[in-house]
Amino acid sequence: MPAATFDRESVPPQWQHRHLLDLERLTPDEVRLLLDTAALFKEATNGCRAKLGLLSGRTIVNLFFENSTRTRTSFSLAARRLGADVVDFTAASSSLSKGESFIDTAKNLEAMGIDAVVVRHATPGTPHLLSQYLDVGVINAGDGPHEHPTQGLLDIFSIRERRGDLRGVTVGLVGDISHSRTARSNLWGLMKLGAHVILCGPPTLVSERWREIGVEVSHDLDAIIPRCDVLNLLRIQFERQNTRPFPSVREYAHLYAMTGERLRRAKPDLLILAPGPINRGVEVTAEVADCGQSLILDQVTNGLAVRMAVLWLVCGPRGGSAGGSTVRQERIV
Ligand code: NCD
Repeated sequence: MPAATFDRESVPPQWQHRHLLDLERLTPDEVRLLLDTAALFKEATNGCRAKLGLLSGRTIVNLFFENSTRTRTSFSLAARRLGADVVDFTAASSSLSKGESFIDTAKNLEAMGIDAVVVRHATPGTPHLLSQYLDVGVINAGDGPHEHPTQGLLDIFSIRERRGDLRGVTVGLVGDISHSRTARSNLWGLMKLGAHVILCGPPTLVSERWREIGVEVSHDLDAIIPRCDVLNLLRIQFERQNTRPFPSVREYAHLYAMTGERLRRAKPDLLILAPGPINRGVEVTAEVADCGQSLILDQVTNGLAVRMAVLWLVCGPRGGSAGGSTVRQERIV
């Protein structure tokens, strides 16, 4: 395997951000840079397995106020694969329960000499707020229904790995678009790279107003399936809903679950994605989730590469309190 070197030349100057807060405000070149850097990390770590010392001496804090399996573990492993120290902050056992404000808690963590905060919170805009108060890199790991930029990037990375150029690729995002931060990050990233995005689900969960930003809206999965190159199957976010958006889960599954029968009416090389957790029998059947066209577990592996890239760009070359020059010279073999 060829050695990849991160030096002044190979850490591209077009990354000018201290934080990764959303994909909406990135340029297409910045999205491409993140994906290209992730590809470099995947190759350099032998498929995300090997460890590098690029962020040794740096400390990353995981600040999670919502449940997480994949994202938290993936950020922790990505940071460790780069040699950083990781602190997992658990809101329930912290001084927040003694009345300390969110910003005071974060500033106390910052005072311990950390380099970046990975934050997940039920309130949209929490990472953006933190970035105004802290002098360290802030990475959004999901802010309510707003955005989940690393999930969007890893989904797009997984499609790009199979399909190459995203231009002209038709991607259906199916399910609870109203409450899905994954859908939002996907649609911004995909549109920037020239994909055609179709948002599909019941009218109560997919607003017609999405058409105003240039995406297609459909309420009929069977009608769009033959045109799609990729389907990303999103979970119904019951925990964010105040009213029931459809009469029963059974009815939802009848109309919108991706089944083997629907798969047979799709293009033969249709790719199936899902951010997880998946609810088998609701948005996808076991037959489809486990079929050869499913990238669900590839997405999880690629999440490590994407998060290594994000941590590196936020803390490595220019960011972080430990300076950049030695990190910048480090060689990955
Ligand atoms: C997503 C999330 O938490 O937003 N999952 C994830 O990060 N892997 C999607 C979901 O919960 O359905």
